[in-house]
Amino acid sequence: MRRSYLNCSQMLRLLLSLLVAASAGVVGHSRNPSICELVDAQLPGRVSYPGTAGYNNSQKAYFAGQERDLSPGCVFRPTNTDDVSRFVKLVGSERQSGRSPRGSRPSSPKFAVRAGGHSLWAGAANMNGGITVDLRSLNSVVVSDDGAVARIGGGAVYSSDVFPEVVKHNVTVMGGRIPGIGVGGFTTAGGMTFLSRRNGWTCDNVYGYEVVLASGEVVYATASSSPDLWLALKGGSSNFGIVTRFDVAAFPQDLMWGGVILFNYSQSVLEGHAEAFSNFMRPENFDDLAMMSIIFGFTNAGGSPTFSVSDAIFYSDGVEFPPVYQNFTSMPGILPVNTLALNNVADLVNGFGAVLPQSVDRIYELVYSFKTSDAALYKQLFRAWEKWTDTIADIQGVSVQYLIQPLPVTNGTNSLGLTPNAKDGVTVCITATYPNAADDKVVEKRVKAFLEGQVKILRKKDLFIPFQYLGYADKSQDPIGSYGRAIKRQLQAVSRKYDPNGLFQDGISGSFKVFA
Ligand SMILES: Cc1cc2nc3c(=O)[nH]c(=O)nc-3n(C[C@H](O)[C@H](O)[C@H](O)COP(=O)(O)OP(=O)(O)OC[C@H]3O[C@@H](n4cnc5c(N)ncnc54)[C@H](O)[C@@H]3O)c2cc1C
Ligand SMILES: *[C@@H]1O[C@H](CO)[C@@H](O)[C@H](O)[C@H]1NC(C)=O
Ligand SMILES: *[C@@H]1O[C@H](CO)[C@@H](O)[C@H](O)[C@H]1NC(C)=O
Ligand SMILES: *[C@@H]1O[C@H](CO)[C@@H](O)[C@H](O)[C@H]1NC(C)=O
Ligand SMILES: *[C@@H]1O[C@H](CO)[C@@H](O)[C@H](O)[C@H]1NC(C)=O
Ligand SMILES: *[C@@H]1O[C@H](CO)[C@@H](O)[C@H](O)[C@H]1NC(C)=O
Repeated sequence: MRRSYLNCSQMLRLLLSLLVAASAGVVGHSRNPSICELVDAQLPGRVSYPGTAGYNNSQKAYFAGQERDLSPGCVFRPTNTDDVSRFVKLVGSERQSGRSPRGSRPSSPKFAVRAGGHSLWAGAANMNGGITVDLRSLNSVVVSDDGAVARIGGGAVYSSDVFPEVVKHNVTVMGGRIPGIGVGGFTTAGGMTFLSRRNGWTCDNVYGYEVVLASGEVVYATASSSPDLWLALKGGSSNFGIVTRFDVAAFPQDLMWGGVILFNYSQSVLEGHAEAFSNFMRPENFDDLAMMSIIFGFTNAGGSPTFSVSDAIFYSDGVEFPPVYQNFTSMPGILPVNTLALNNVADLVNGFGAVLPQSVDRIYELVYSFKTSDAALYKQLFRAWEKWTDTIADIQGVSVQYLIQPLPVTNGTNSLGLTPNAKDGVTVCITATYPNAADDKVVEKRVKAFLEGQVKILRKKDLFIPFQYLGYADKSQDPIGSYGRAIKRQLQAVSRKYDPNGLFQDGISGSFKVFA
């Protein structure tokens, strides 16, 4: 543990927490009530136990099977910021009283926090035992009269709560592109979206955070009040508190053009994509209204191995078939089916619900980044992907995806450590889904081997960049370390200042801790 002594304010906090615990009837009982019983007693009507509809509602609403497979002792569903504050005070005091006398032993996690439940690995936003905080009732969305700011609850979901409301005002916010993604996890990770080549990361566009600190105190962090906390929350995940409201920039938005185009997979289509993407990334073709990804797929789920390639292309000012995409939309091998249309952003995002699964069984994903280069480099990377699929083809029911997209063009208003205004960044997610937990280890091993192969190619060409986007990273990766040493130290200083007892280090479930 990094803290070997208690300073005065910590001592005071400890005393206060013991008082709170005493008033909750804990101290002096022979059996400590569980954290669920404690919270239930203090905040009645908000705790659901296994077997109930409320509990099932949270359990079912995770994207990944690994998260659904965990069984928290109960689910706490706060209805407002004060509930969250009272919860944090309770869990903080319970944690203190449960510690060894010298307080030197790290305690095990007591709680998990979830918003949209779209992080992929077990324990990111759920846990076994303990208590899972389901923020989804903090879902209000208020657009300011001038349409410039949206105030969004920390548990809101973009597709169901946020986009349908903001489109009524002819504005949009920078949000998740697939149904079900929560504002809480997305925005504290970074946030890549349709407008990211123009406006950077979603977190670059957050003016204010209402956040419940480890003490239970509610602060409003902006660039002028608590600038250190404000900046730390831009990429710092759940390390500093529970964000109960995000005040974000809203942008005028009419219909957006785009959708998914499909190709008949072949070597010439693979090479065509290498050419078209390297051209898309060239400075002379840069168009800040365009955001796209290429998705290579392989599956043996249908019996015989099948490859596919599709592109998700978006253009935010509503121009149809803009020149920037011409090399994709006119590529030989394109199939006559596509979802290209002019849509408002709510319909665009919810439209994906019709074609994509709401949840998956087992899933494993790794992320890496690099600087763009010529077509030859992309050919090398894509061919390596195709070849690698041989090594996973024996896993029953497996599907793998290689998704490549440009990184946001950020002005640097965040803690991610990326070069401001760089337009040449690219990121890849390699994702495997499969039905059997028995295959976890072998899938991990083979996906890791793939990543190592790609990194080797990129390092040789001096194109590799260490950045790992936290929103896509596996728990075995180190996104916060990837921001750089100086930023990590700064994040640690912010943690010490706002969370001196480390509640959001070892009291909360999950990885990506600033002190890891
Ligand atoms: C199908 C799919 C599509 C995706 N598309 C995109 C995309 O277009 N762009 C992109 O950038 N990312 C995308 N992602 C990644 C996504 O941003 C992350 O998975 C993100 O964590 C999801 O947020 P959530 O609230 O749904 O997650 P959760 O799993 O609920 O939470 C993730 C983490 O954030 C913490 N957290 C949640 N809410 C709060 C809060 N209010 N305060 C403090 N901590 C909190 C949780 O404790 C947890 O550690 C996608 C993921 C999936 C599965
Ligand atoms: C909740 O799910 C459990 C397990 O799947 C089931 O046994 C129980 O009946 C469900 N409860 C409700 C109220 O739906
Ligand atoms: C949004 O735009 C539509 C179409 O241009 C217009 O009719 C409507 O009044 C606008 N709504 C608001 C709230 O500005
Ligand atoms: C970066 O962009 C954000 C959001 O658009 C803006 O609020 C901020 O002032 C910009 N910062 C700089 C240094 O340009
Ligand atoms: C896809 O390509 C194969 C092989 O070149 C060809 O036989 C098939 O007709 C094509 N399918 C479509 C839908 O174009
Ligand atoms: C399209 O491809 C041509 C040649 O292959 C290239 O010169 C051009 O820059 C590309 N255009 C865009 C917008 O990518």
